[in-house]
Amino acid sequence: MVASADIKITRVAKSRVGEYDVNNVPFGKIFADHMFIAEYENGKWSKCSIQPYEDVPMSYALSALHYGQAIFEGMKAYKSDEGVVSLFRPIDNFNRLNKSAIRMAMPEVPEEIFMGGLTELLKLDKNWVPDGDFGSLYIRPFMISTDEAIGVRPSDNYKFVIICCPAGKYYAEPVKVLIEHHYFRSVRGGVGYVKAAGNYGRSLYPTRLAQDKGFQQVIWTDSETNKYVEESGTMNLMFVIDNTLLTPALSDTILAGITRDSVLAVARDWGLKVEERKISTEEIIAAHNAGTLMEAFGTGTAATIAHIKAIGFEDHLYELPAVEDRKFAPKVDEFLRNLRKGREQDKHNWMLKVC
Ligand SMILES: Cc1ncc(COP(=O)(O)O)c(C=O)c1O
Repeated sequence: MVASADIKITRVAKSRVGEYDVNNVPFGKIFADHMFIAEYENGKWSKCSIQPYEDVPMSYALSALHYGQAIFEGMKAYKSDEGVVSLFRPIDNFNRLNKSAIRMAMPEVPEEIFMGGLTELLKLDKNWVPDGDFGSLYIRPFMISTDEAIGVRPSDNYKFVIICCPAGKYYAEPVKVLIEHHYFRSVRGGVGYVKAAGNYGRSLYPTRLAQDKGFQQVIWTDSETNKYVEESGTMNLMFVIDNTLLTPALSDTILAGITRDSVLAVARDWGLKVEERKISTEEIIAAHNAGTLMEAFGTGTAATIAHIKAIGFEDHLYELPAVEDRKFAPKVDEFLRNLRKGREQDKHNWMLKVC
């Protein structure tokens, strides 16, 4: 790990944390006191620093803005009942960031910089980690290309940055989702399996159209056949049909969610039958009509579990059983919440204690 001695640390003169109730702030708007920055130039990473959170002075020719070499991660730190701050599966986020970097022709970040920067940052901003049952510190590591030049080619210079913000519950209520079959999030051979910033930009217009119809999110289908469901918003999708947990198999059009992997592991630990395979819209509707579609939900770092209360498809709305009547998703949601608070045995070694 990059030692704290190798990180130039400039602390804030006075912390802003006392200005907020960190258990009760809007998501993604209030940032912790410090940020970590590493710079890539002349073919290597160097210049690691932690400094007060600030805006970027930048050139309008910044290559990330024009050609989209921009990738990111989303992860969380939790505070246990004893006040210990831990990260949930950080190495998986580190590995996924580098998978994104490779696909976007960007340099990989060394583990010692990712983990060293993250650890030192958390030690400084520990007081920003909410301690409530639903609270966490959302962590956004990201990399952008920083050449100040017009011209389509991989940049020579990059910045890897980590910023953090306190977070509470993401979706307060179960969501209504619309199966989208005109626009696609991701195509075969594309970048859907990585966290490239452009994936999110392209999803906004179709999502807004769905929101105008009263839905919170869309369910994306595969662009080749338009038959199989893939993901929903920034979440992987899961269904319980006839006591079997179903989720679309991973491919180059689906992001390998860390929450997805965790939920599948817990389901297997609990002896539930799990299937990772293609799931067609037809199959979901047939199960609904037969009364065997018991649960539908999204999984992701921001929400953990977002229960789906209704699915819209071609002018029909298919309503699902009430969350109180669901056996699996509320239980796994609670289990993961307790695990992160240090109240469950961590048999998979998912939690990394930091400070
Ligand atoms: C497109 C997409 N799918 C799925 C997920 C869920 O991934 P994870 O569970 O690692 O947060 C995310 C969020 O990172 C996402 O952006």
